[in-house]
Amino acid sequence: MSSIKNPSLAGQGKLNIEIAERRMGALLKVRERFAKEQPFKGLTIGMALHVTKETAVLVKTLVAGGAQVAITGCNPLSTQDDVAAALAEEKGVSVWAYKGESKEDYYKYLNEVIATKPHITIDDGCDLVTEIHTKHPDLLARMIGGCEETTTGIIRLKAMERDGALKTPMIAVNDNKTKHLMDNYYGTGQSTFDGILRSTNLLIAGKTVVILGYGSCGKGVAMRAQGLGAQVIVTEVDAFAALQAAMDGHRVLKMEEAAPLGDIFVTVTGDIHVIRFEHMEAMKDGAVLANSGHFDCEIDLDALEKKAKTKRRVRHYLDEYVLPSGKALFVAGEGRLVNLASAEGHPSEVMSLSFCGQALACEYLVKNKGTMPKGVITLPAEVDDVIARMQLVAMGLSIDELTEEQKKYLASWQEGT
Ligand SMILES: NC(=O)c1ccc[n+]([C@@H]2O[C@H](COP(=O)([O-])OP(=O)(O)OC[C@H]3O[C@@H](n4cnc5c(N)ncnc54)[C@H](O)[C@@H]3O)[C@@H](O)[C@H]2O)c1
Repeated sequence: MSSIKNPSLAGQGKLNIEIAERRMGALLKVRERFAKEQPFKGLTIGMALHVTKETAVLVKTLVAGGAQVAITGCNPLSTQDDVAAALAEEKGVSVWAYKGESKEDYYKYLNEVIATKPHITIDDGCDLVTEIHTKHPDLLARMIGGCEETTTGIIRLKAMERDGALKTPMIAVNDNKTKHLMDNYYGTGQSTFDGILRSTNLLIAGKTVVILGYGSCGKGVAMRAQGLGAQVIVTEVDAFAALQAAMDGHRVLKMEEAAPLGDIFVTVTGDIHVIRFEHMEAMKDGAVLANSGHFDCEIDLDALEKKAKTKRRVRHYLDEYVLPSGKALFVAGEGRLVNLASAEGHPSEVMSLSFCGQALACEYLVKNKGTMPKGVITLPAEVDDVIARMQLVAMGLSIDELTEEQKKYLASWQEGT
């Protein structure tokens, strides 16, 4: 049933999955329990997620819990072909994915997953759920619900909810603290530079890095840029986020002011056309543009493609565009998620947290089948607590417990000065 690039890569894929598992102790604990309790027996889980070694650890966890899993990518450039090959050899798994998918194959593969009639979906960006709602609404009756991994997906789900178009419960896994305050922050912070460095091998120290968007991801990217010795400029549209950036010690400017100053530009807004051609014309010769937001529309690449005199690939996922003025600009990762297009996505430790969230969200859907509203749901805070505690154990860390006196004190209001 599977469609992958090269089955002979399976050996390397299995090694990569094994290495990831060593760093994903919390998720392995969930797997151990699922293997005993079989929460997904007789269920099919359809997934559109980045096909990486960490995602494979999640897939194996769901299969251990009794699920049949059908998986495709959620971005044309993020599949690791060795991991896809390894997954194709797993019992209970069908996989359709390769790195560099055409748009046609991307949607064909989403529909292969849909053809397995999933009871539960796991999405990263909401393409699978949108496709089911718009083209296969007949499947919604048998669906228990779905889980969404990223900020952009939640924005789309909330828009569906507002329009009365969302017909199944959807858990906003992104909104777990153990997801957006860890994965988006520490994960995107580090892996965005991993991608930029693999494409450019630039020295970051002494450079000016312009970060568009100071949300969870932007804060993480700014923290790592600063740590690598860059001067950071932030652009924002939200007053509070801009204020936070300023108080974290960054320069806050309008994009038109930042454009001529930056050496490296990173978009992490989840918005469209935050870097436009007018900004590109004002940039320095040699400036690097990268996007770490979900879709490839943050940088107006259509305008750049139309107006550039020449374009050539000069390095690993690094394209040089020469503008009519003669200046060259370099775009990393084709303007898609640079951490996944040019590198391997987030490190395993951080994905262990996010994917514990996915695994426990699937279990929550099964346990609460038929009782949840058809809308966007946040998991109870206790689930976050369980995940954080499991990860602490996996990292060999212990924390204090409240004494009885402290519990009483924190629950009372009578005692003051
Ligand atoms: N690269 C990855 O692996 C990865 C990981 C997690 C999330 N994401 C994606 O990254 C994007 C950002 O996620 P987040 O969790 O940081 O979202 P967020 O909502 O926390 O932050 C986005 C910020 O961008 C700002 N913004 C919006 N439009 C802007 C504009 N025109 N100019 C400047 N700033 C603008 C918003 O005000 C907000 O502060 C989303 O698309 C999300 O799906 C990527």
